[in-house]
Amino acid sequence: PSITFVHPDGRAQRIDGGDGESAMQAATRHDVNGILAECGGNAMCATCHVYVDEDWLARLPAMGDDEDALLDGAAAERRANSRLSCQIKLAADLDGLVLNLPDRQL
Ligand code: FES
Repeated sequence: PSITFVHPDGRAQRIDGGDGESAMQAATRHDVNGILAECGGNAMCATCHVYVDEDWLARLPAMGDDEDALLDGAAAERRANSRLSCQIKLAADLDGLVLNLPDRQL
């Protein structure tokens, strides 16, 4: 599935993710700036914060309690469409997913 990351300056970066990997893993594999993922995907750092494009928000599985709690501590403002990209598992039905990057992760 392809994912498009939109940088804070509006630049769109489209990458190919693998089935079953997380959006964070796909981003780090493709060196997407703006995803730090300091904890390696364990829902412990919140440095993989993204704002999910509104069209996609309802199509993602609901967030878990860990993710919800951690997002409160994200460096950039938490919004209604905030998610942790390490908790978004890619699958064919998410092909075309659009994730906006916050202006900072630390
Ligand atoms: Fe640390 Fe997602 S990589 S919370």
